[in-house]
Amino acid sequence: MKGIILHGGHGTRLRPLTHTGPKQLLPIANKAMSQYALEDLKKAGATEIGIIIGDVYPEKVKEYYGNGEKFGVTITYIYQDKPKGISHAIRLCKDFIGNEKFIVYLGDNVLRKNLIDYTKKFEASDSDAMILLCEVGEPRRFGIAELDKDNPGKIKKIMEKPKDPPSNLAVIGIYFLTPKIFDIIDNLKPSWRGELEITDALDMLMNQGNKIEYDTVTGWWKDTGTPEDIIHANKLVLDSIGTENQFLIDDDSEIKGNIVIGKGTEISRDSFVTGPAIIGKNCKIGPAVRLGPYVSVGDNCILKNCNLEESIIMEDCKINAKIDLSSSIVAHSSEIEDNDVPKKQQFLLGERSCLKI
Ligand code: G1P
Repeated sequence: MKGIILHGGHGTRLRPLTHTGPKQLLPIANKAMSQYALEDLKKAGATEIGIIIGDVYPEKVKEYYGNGEKFGVTITYIYQDKPKGISHAIRLCKDFIGNEKFIVYLGDNVLRKNLIDYTKKFEASDSDAMILLCEVGEPRRFGIAELDKDNPGKIKKIMEKPKDPPSNLAVIGIYFLTPKIFDIIDNLKPSWRGELEITDALDMLMNQGNKIEYDTVTGWWKDTGTPEDIIHANKLVLDSIGTENQFLIDDDSEIKGNIVIGKGTEISRDSFVTGPAIIGKNCKIGPAVRLGPYVSVGDNCILKNCNLEESIIMEDCKINAKIDLSSSIVAHSSEIEDNDVPKKQQFLLGERSCLKI
């Protein structure tokens, strides 16, 4: 089976972070969000992967993934000129897919469980599509499936972000499809938001007498549309992180809990790291840093005198400030410096921000 990763979209709710790159490259536990999708597809045997890129820094996606060799897959890039919807993006893959079943993974979705069992189930079945459902608290934000009460195991209707949701079962952004979907998409009309919706295509596929099955997601699933979602996804991923100790720590400092620390990183002079947390390579942590829980720090960061919890600090940042940062995201190459006044802060800083407080 081939895999498709959707890597387009404008990520407007994630600005300023998405002014300098596609949202799917934002790091969660120091790994690009869409890399989780790629690794899931690979584990499920889909090593031929098409990545749909749009007009938000497509060159950064190509630079990150290259031809896929580094990740043990082969990658074909497919260009979508405008964000005209998930179905539109899928239609662009017709030649790439050929005659086989395939998996579509939205690059901003992160799933706890891998796809191996779902893929085996779909490979063995005669269904024309398989979707994955997950109970959610805010069903108006998602595609929703209404199950058929009279026919257990059957879906009655699939709809996009209904105002009055008939269920709280979200259709998550991982779709198991057959080439039948291409003809359906050719007959689809844009929705109220001007997009060719995947939910409309699935509903039409079903209404034309084709078989759609579903499975329910066990463990967590996260759609990362907002900064809060990203911080939450970071927490969920860090919850299952292990330990890897390749760092230098001096006698005055201490670490506790599950922590992954990269080569060449030093933790020193009265600093305290509480897991779960991940710190990249060649960082200098100290003096007087309190880091964690639920913090991801990218490579080459210099952190002094700060308290960080539930936050993401991307690569090459410098923080030298007596501040308490919580629920914050600080993008690449940003600097925070203070004039010695302790404060509690929450930041969402785009790339190369420079803050003197
Ligand atoms: C898209 C789909 C929606 C699905 C969601 C999952 O929504 O249209 O059906 O539930 O992804 O992440 P969007 O991210 O375009 O708002």
